[in-house]
Amino acid sequence: MASITIRNIDEKAKQALRERAARNGNSMEEQARLLLDAAAQNDKMDEAQFVSTGYEAGSRSTAIIDPYYPASGKRILMIISGGIAAYKSLDLIRRLKERGVSVRVIMTKAATEFITPLLVGALSHDKVFCDLFSREDEQDVGHIALAREADLIVVAPATANLMAKMAGGLADDLASAVLLAADVPLLLAPAMNPAMWNNPATVRNVETLANDGVHFIGPETGEMAERGESGRGRLSEPMEIVAAIGQLLDDAHKPLKGLRAILTAGPTHEPIDPVRYIANRSSGKQGYAIASALARAGAQVKLISGPVDLPRPPGVERVMVQTAEEMFQAVENALPADIAVMVAAVADWRTIASAEEKIKKKPGTKTAMTLKLTQNPDILKSLGHHKKRPTLVIGFAAETQDLIKHAKAKLKRKGADWILANDVSHETGVMGGDQNTIKLLSNDNTRTNVEEWPTMAKGNVATKLVDKIIVHFETQTVNV
Ligand code: C5P
Repeated sequence: MASITIRNIDEKAKQALRERAARNGNSMEEQARLLLDAAAQNDKMDEAQFVSTGYEAGSRSTAIIDPYYPASGKRILMIISGGIAAYKSLDLIRRLKERGVSVRVIMTKAATEFITPLLVGALSHDKVFCDLFSREDEQDVGHIALAREADLIVVAPATANLMAKMAGGLADDLASAVLLAADVPLLLAPAMNPAMWNNPATVRNVETLANDGVHFIGPETGEMAERGESGRGRLSEPMEIVAAIGQLLDDAHKPLKGLRAILTAGPTHEPIDPVRYIANRSSGKQGYAIASALARAGAQVKLISGPVDLPRPPGVERVMVQTAEEMFQAVENALPADIAVMVAAVADWRTIASAEEKIKKKPGTKTAMTLKLTQNPDILKSLGHHKKRPTLVIGFAAETQDLIKHAKAKLKRKGADWILANDVSHETGVMGGDQNTIKLLSNDNTRTNVEEWPTMAKGNVATKLVDKIIVHFETQTVNV
């Protein structure tokens, strides 16, 4: 192909091209070539749709090349499962192709009852895969390769049946086998009758999949295709799905990509005997919210969690522990890391030895029971002075009095960079509650800065903290 000279285009377009090239790791010239190629493809696709859907001549839409769409140039594997909403997937393919996305399609057998592979292939400009046991397809691509070669897999529509198979790890057709073999992000756009969506089995399956890190868009609430039916179960609009795909593939909005974070969260349980333990009222909500926000910002997150009743946040690797010593060991094993956020309410003491058998009352006596305790390792302090010290070490100071004084002392003693101090007196409802009021302490050469945050939901505290972490690493990079 002849070389492209990028000249005589206005500054705004040039800037867009520059940003896009930086995002995709290629040159401006290569990026321009990709866009032109996408435009040419798009023209062909419009023709294909014109033929296959019987549009009248002259009604061809104009190609939309959105220079800011983060997924353009990326590869999407789209799985269409069988439901009335399958017809909407045609528009989704078209919208993605318009944006320079390469789309390869797998259809379940049921989907082919609603729309034909021929029509889908005409829109995607590719062979459509339907059969797990097709020798020809296996030689061509192979179902494992189908699962791996994409940047993202989107299932639209995702039926209750396919989600149930995914949640149970079944692989009895091409779509479910590919989903089981996939190690790329998965986005499901469910569509089904509201009664099916609300069925406890579907609710359980959706929860299982969400805990496995699968992303969801919709379903929406509204009229169903069946007459007289309405409720939650409509497939999200194609443009909404296009936006969700863009968001998931948007590296520019993953500012912590490439950084490793370790978090501790929740309480610890220190055994007294086989049935009793020393614990505290920590719910783990704040730590889990921070783990989730870090993952959303692109960090590779390892969450070391004490016993809590919370699902694993999507995209986070979780290690469950019981005691402070186990938590300490798990943190050691997770090193090295760039960021450490120690949110766990670690028990300061444990019993010297947990009794082998349940400790019994002595009948007829009222003698006081004495537990001999010893100190637990201080995980935050050990990280603050570690030879593999993470670049940014953050701790919490849960206090019931003299908040700032204690937090300042902790900042120094533990060798932390930042301490988030919060008042956990009973009346604040912070322990176990959904809100938190933070004072952030950090050392600035000679003095300690104190930043007061208003009371907010724990999720917002997490986002605000992660925003600060992002700024911290951005300024560090600039200074290097
Ligand atoms: O000393 P104190 O328990 O008040 O310190 C609180 C901070 O230290 C929190 O960030 C907590 O996660 C961390 N910590 C720890 N290991 C301990 C005790 C506290 O990591 N044994």
